[in-house]
Amino acid sequence: MEISRENLLKLVNEALKILPNSYAPYSNIHVASAILTESGRIYLGVNVENSSYGLTICAERSAISAMITNGDRKPVAIAIVTDLEEPIPPCGACRQVIAEFNPEAVLIMYSAKTHNYIVKNLKEIFPQPFIVKK
Ligand code: THU
Repeated sequence: MEISRENLLKLVNEALKILPNSYAPYSNIHVASAILTESGRIYLGVNVENSSYGLTICAERSAISAMITNGDRKPVAIAIVTDLEEPIPPCGACRQVIAEFNPEAVLIMYSAKTHNYIVKNLKEIFPQPFIVKK
């Protein structure tokens, strides 16, 4: 599927809408993610922190869970939106979890504060995922 600039901007907008729902009272770093799948549907997620810090779930993995919960399987583009000054790339754990479903997903990383953004393919920042053939 060809990922148009229009599709990427729509994803960023969907993520911006739910950014206020991010639960991040400990780090105060708010993150929202929106996933466009091959089927054309969009799934959303935010980071969910916990007083037991290690239990925190990132926005990207929340969105991947929503995608799987709803019976979809292939993310083609993923927006990662934060309120930090600079766009943030997915953490290592999220890279591995996204790669399970599409190691060549397009990522758009966007700062809600400065409107700076970066577009990269997951394979550029995670070239050797651990994937077991099914
Ligand atoms: N975080 C994400 O949601 N996604 C990432 O890829 C990086 C980190 C969240 C987790 C935590 O709530 C906060 O950012 C600070 O680490």
